[in-house]
Amino acid sequence: MFPSVFVGHGSPTVILEKDRYHNDLVSFARSIEKPSYIISVSAHWERNLPLLVSEAEQPPQIFDFYGFPEEMYRVKWAPKGSPDLAKRVISEFSKHNIVVKGSRSWGIDHGTWIPLSIMYPGADIPTIQISIPRHADTQTLMKMGEILRVFREDNILVFGSGNVVHNFEYIRSLRPETKHNTPFDWAVTFDEWIEENSEVRENMLEYRKKAPYVERAVATTEHFNPYLVVLGTMHGKDSVQKITDVFHWESIAMRSIAVTS
Ligand SMILES: [Fe+2]
Repeated sequence: MFPSVFVGHGSPTVILEKDRYHNDLVSFARSIEKPSYIISVSAHWERNLPLLVSEAEQPPQIFDFYGFPEEMYRVKWAPKGSPDLAKRVISEFSKHNIVVKGSRSWGIDHGTWIPLSIMYPGADIPTIQISIPRHADTQTLMKMGEILRVFREDNILVFGSGNVVHNFEYIRSLRPETKHNTPFDWAVTFDEWIEENSEVRENMLEYRKKAPYVERAVATTEHFNPYLVVLGTMHGKDSVQKITDVFHWESIAMRSIAVTS
């Protein structure tokens, strides 16, 4: 079974720095076979139901961030889409009674292209996106992963992008020179709980009741939810392998993992 992957994406400027995060992502991508397709679930395509699946032949690269250095807007990462794969994904979700439809209203947003441009700079793997349903409960999110599991059999990378801890409110300054400040204790405690419990399905389903400091660490759920989708692809003796556990600023966990057989 092909691994599925969740990557913490943090600030778009991660593509400008060759730091440990960057190296850890590159090493991981080189350690596995190259996928034939990528199905990405990005925190930045949160929408009401129906679930949306991008079906354009050539989805546009979306620069959905503002006020960053000019060079950021010149980075090109625009692989082909795959209308056929989109059809298969729609059919799988329909079989499980999830309301779903194809969409041309979005493209490849920065949640997808920032980390994937580090891992696969050639942009030569056809990529489609699936929206994250707004207000979805943890059962539904893990169910999405269970449905997507079948694609792992076909050398297809199921990819989630968000952040396990994502809270800008407590950060004193988002200047580049404060990026490697010591993280807050509560952020580390929550991140460690997630590391310890990622293979315990019932704890992940109940993480909002069980995890310490959840209200601060996951103040809004859109960046956390792709993590649950990726965990939902686990099966049998699969395990969770760490790709990186770097923190950026005081409360952005870049924790990235692979579900491997
Ligand atoms: Fe983000």
